[in-house]
Amino acid sequence: MPLDQTALLIELEPVVATNLDRHLSLAKEWFPHEYVPWSEGRTYDGLLGGEAWQDSDSKLPDVARTALIVNLLTEDNLPSYHHEIATLFGRDGAWGTWVHRWTAEEGRHGIAIRDYLTVTRAVDPVELERARMDHMSAGFSNGHPDSAMHSIAYVAFQELATRISHRNTGKATEDPIAEQLLARVAADENLHMVFYRNLLGAAFELDPDSAMQAVTDVVVGFEMPGANIDGFGRKALSIALAGIYDLRQHRDEVLQPVLRQWNVFGRTDLSGEGEKAREQLATHMDELESQAARFEQRREARRQRQEAKRV
Ligand SMILES: [Fe+2]
Ligand SMILES: [Fe+2]
Repeated sequence: MPLDQTALLIELEPVVATNLDRHLSLAKEWFPHEYVPWSEGRTYDGLLGGEAWQDSDSKLPDVARTALIVNLLTEDNLPSYHHEIATLFGRDGAWGTWVHRWTAEEGRHGIAIRDYLTVTRAVDPVELERARMDHMSAGFSNGHPDSAMHSIAYVAFQELATRISHRNTGKATEDPIAEQLLARVAADENLHMVFYRNLLGAAFELDPDSAMQAVTDVVVGFEMPGANIDGFGRKALSIALAGIYDLRQHRDEVLQPVLRQWNVFGRTDLSGEGEKAREQLATHMDELESQAARFEQRREARRQRQEAKRV
């Protein structure tokens, strides 16, 4: 019998408690202000009559700026994420403690990245603020906001996706300070991923068919949390061309390792709908494989054309 949502949340409560303890024992305290080179800062124009931002102020490569903006806007939408998980998981007991703790940790990410960008003049602060207003005004919903099973599956993948994206954005900045900051953020995202991955692992034990169906729905319809950022398609393409986050990484470094942890393709406890969902997932993973390969070929051809032009 599939578990109804309340039963699922109740059954998972002790797993949340155990993993919350695990999380708290592994999470390291860190301070955003230590990652920001404050002495490089200069007063801006406007109220205080300093100097307006200009493009030449930024020392970062274009694509690193784009990726940082996407990552920060994604972090900025935290009130929407909080609303979603607080509504689904509740604010009591171990679930509630997790919801608030997670929110507090995520809040640090936006604070740290924004301080870094503003002080180093890495991006246009006016454009950034306008983009934040637009993005937050639109809000966010994960596509299955009423289903706890789907939402846990979604965040397990999404936390790992943000981990990879932050880490590779750090490398793309070619700035050791930004790299350290984003590696620190990525380490948090990894712990978040482990928490949700363990939770869904337990859900697989409780109700394998429903868990399997949720995983397939989420993987097949996956969208990054920043997908509704203005101009996301164009931004995501340049991020993919730079190898910061592309389909290959999405398939091989985000989907695969999590699916492997749940032993999705080796399970013997699926029946009917669960089996069907697993088959659909296998087909989708094959399709992603060919799409990733095609993208890599096109990217390589593009690189060669650009190189030929340079000679
Ligand atoms: Fe984050
Ligand atoms: Fe996270």
